[in-house]
Amino acid sequence: MPNTTLSADTASKPRKILVTSALPYANGSIHLGHLVEYIQTDIWVRFQKARGHECYYVCADDAHGTAIMLKAEELGITPEALIEQVKAEHERDFADFLIRFDNYHSTHAEENRVFANEIYTRLKNNGHIAEREITQAFDPEKNLFLADRYIKGTCPKCKTDDQYGDNCEACGATYAPTDLIDPVSAISGATPIEKQSTHYFFKLPEFESFLKDWTRAGHVSKEIANKLAEWLDSGLQEWDISRDAPYFGFEIPDAPGKYFYVWLDAPIGYMASFKNLCDREGIDFDTYWAKDSEAELYHFIGKDIVNFHALFWPAMLTSANYRTPNKVCVHGFLTVNGKKMSKSRGTFINARNYLNFLEPEYLRYYFAAKLSSSVEDLDLNLDDFIQRVNSDVVGKVVNIASRCAKFVTRDGDATLAASIGEPALWQQAVDAGEVIAGHYENRDFGKAVREIMALADAANEYIAAKEPWKLAKQEGAEAEVQAVCSLGINLFRALMIYLKPILPNMAEQSSLFLNDALVWADTIEPLLNHRIEVFKPMVKRVEKDKVAAMVEAGIQAQPAAQASKEPATPDSPLAAEPLADEISFEDFIKVDLRVARIVAASHVEGASKLLQLTLDIGGETRNVFSGIKSSYQPEQLEGRLTVMVANLAARKMRFGISEGMVLAAGDDEGIYLLEPDSGAQPGQRVT
Ligand code: 2FM
Ligand code: ZN
Repeated sequence: MPNTTLSADTASKPRKILVTSALPYANGSIHLGHLVEYIQTDIWVRFQKARGHECYYVCADDAHGTAIMLKAEELGITPEALIEQVKAEHERDFADFLIRFDNYHSTHAEENRVFANEIYTRLKNNGHIAEREITQAFDPEKNLFLADRYIKGTCPKCKTDDQYGDNCEACGATYAPTDLIDPVSAISGATPIEKQSTHYFFKLPEFESFLKDWTRAGHVSKEIANKLAEWLDSGLQEWDISRDAPYFGFEIPDAPGKYFYVWLDAPIGYMASFKNLCDREGIDFDTYWAKDSEAELYHFIGKDIVNFHALFWPAMLTSANYRTPNKVCVHGFLTVNGKKMSKSRGTFINARNYLNFLEPEYLRYYFAAKLSSSVEDLDLNLDDFIQRVNSDVVGKVVNIASRCAKFVTRDGDATLAASIGEPALWQQAVDAGEVIAGHYENRDFGKAVREIMALADAANEYIAAKEPWKLAKQEGAEAEVQAVCSLGINLFRALMIYLKPILPNMAEQSSLFLNDALVWADTIEPLLNHRIEVFKPMVKRVEKDKVAAMVEAGIQAQPAAQASKEPATPDSPLAAEPLADEISFEDFIKVDLRVARIVAASHVEGASKLLQLTLDIGGETRNVFSGIKSSYQPEQLEGRLTVMVANLAARKMRFGISEGMVLAAGDDEGIYLLEPDSGAQPGQRVT
């Protein structure tokens, strides 16, 4: 643990803190929507560690359930192989976004089996498990019970076909799957039959009064408590915690062929991951999880999974004689450019796609600047993102160091002055520390960032007023130049101490420049008579072209399977993207689709996914960059016919201008270029 001087309030109360983020499903990639949560949690944890607290951050892959079983089957591999591959990918993505877990585990782990069995057995011994027969839809071909979302059919109300078993996307009606006209299994296409089976239920209604108190005792925000009150007031239902074989999960003790539902053992995964850490590092597990624990426990989650964390989970923990969380910290969803993330607009951005073009700290800063403790959605506006990071991080913060560094050099030796030239300004920066700490503690990162940037503005105004670059030309003003710039550098250091939880890499480089560990002590003492190193810019400006190239790559890649966090299909096996909103015929004919002949194709230097195509559309040639490299060699393409969108506005990409788009189907496993039947001629309109 970091060994820092604690502030007055915290020094008297050393804290032990355990923090978790929701466990991502092991069936798809991490995207920027997930990263809101991991970045938020990581900043909070880094802040707690910087303040000298014993704080552990654990997470894991959520590895069980039908979706993962079916996905593995579709890929022709075992679920174990799938979850291992996905976990490795997740860990790489998190590490590259500077998310520093103390442990990253899997729910498909021995520790989790032990805790799941123990908790279930305690619930059962306490009389909190009911057992009864239920009737469910069953796929007679796959020999599988079908959850509502695996049944499709015609909407009983508006008669639109191909609708899910619980609601109609066309008219919004909600219904039971048995109401669907001509229902079919979304997995095999077979007509489902009804079948009975014994299920196990957690008797949640017995915890109604406990939960009414618990949700009003500061463990969730007021707005979440109000939402929960709606459920609590309308009466709780018993929760079905079992699933029939075949299922990828843990078999229930003394119930052969019955498995724990994925959501039963998922939160138990928090304990399992922590236990795995405890065993490795000799930490006492009970200090954090015993009923009478004085350690603090925080779960960071999205607003779609509040019922699992603020109803089922505290009730289970209470019955099983464990402590409950101090707080369930709930955030909203991510929108991009004001809209739900969309693959076709290129705004469904995978972690790796982002990292291929941009620095992780840009996003960490932007999210921090917009995060608060409320459940409001957070918008990533790409123009604002560029502007904000460049103006704040580069234009305000780094600028202070770059303007001052060269003027503190004396006789080739860069040494800061022996005293602070303007004590009031320095004191302002020191005093802001506690206010900023308060905002971090309350997860009001936006307020912390505003406070830090106000200090940066004050520092820049001071430097601008003193004009050290002019003073430096005056005879006899050396001491004043050094005083002004030394204060500038000290202010830069204070800013970097405050920004360190958000910008850890930039802080590390600043540490090297300043020869200082950037420790957040209660009263920050200035560096006086202190040697610093040659200044090198710690961060580059965000380039507009790179953002555009990232969006373009997203459009071209159109990855099929994502670890979805959307409530309607929390672990949907249906890799296909949901259908886009209906458009009119008038809208459709605006799209000018043309037969094109690929006259030349080549690799693009530095591009991992793109090929450059020269297309003939009947007397006119177009240059198009297309993300089909994973499936085609250039020589396979030359001479082939395909279809292109000919009236798409030209896009400037990192590698040149793309003048249209070729049409291809695709998913994780391959890309398939569309090709008209032979006889079609380049330039013919496709309708
Ligand atoms: O919604 C999801 O993505 C789930 N995999 C979250 C699980 S969080 C916890 F309970 F494990
Ligand atoms: Zn309908």
